[in-house]
Amino acid sequence: MTVREILKMGDQRLLLTAPAVTAFDTPELHTLVADLLETMAAANGAGLAAPQIGVNLQVVIFGSGQVNPRYPHEPPFPQTILLNPVITPLGDEEQEGWEGCLSVPGMRAIVPRWQHIRYTGVDVLGQPIEREAEGFHARVVQHECDHLIGKLYPMRVRDFSRFGFTSVLFPGLDDNTDD
Ligand code: NI
Repeated sequence: MTVREILKMGDQRLLLTAPAVTAFDTPELHTLVADLLETMAAANGAGLAAPQIGVNLQVVIFGSGQVNPRYPHEPPFPQTILLNPVITPLGDEEQEGWEGCLSVPGMRAIVPRWQHIRYTGVDVLGQPIEREAEGFHARVVQHECDHLIGKLYPMRVRDFSRFGFTSVLFPGLDDNTDD
């Protein structure tokens, strides 16, 4: 496993649409997932998408089963490795919540997301995953899957008066602002 460099906003590779994974349970795929997990853990990420480490494939990981120190007031949700995801909103209710991104270090914004979703996809073996999520869990899934269509959260911001530096908005919160 290797901690990989996380691409930052402005890198054109973050703007690509990722193709689906077609070969499962391969050594390359296991290495990619291991690298994503290690990179996310090293950065205290709530999630990470393969394009963020320069691999243009529909692979996202999110959750750790524990409270995330970058989002200390949000509930934990299970660690998930999700390939070829599809998100379906359940109902038309939106929620507003604070979001950051390891590719946009040191910043946060209020971003509208679907409150309640179903997400489907497959795991690293190609076995189906189907789950419903709401709240922060649903927010993180939507954020990570956006990375697979070249969308970064600032592109979803509607109210730029609530977009700013973490150190100003949330003094004392560790947001990996040292890079
Ligand atoms: Ni992100």
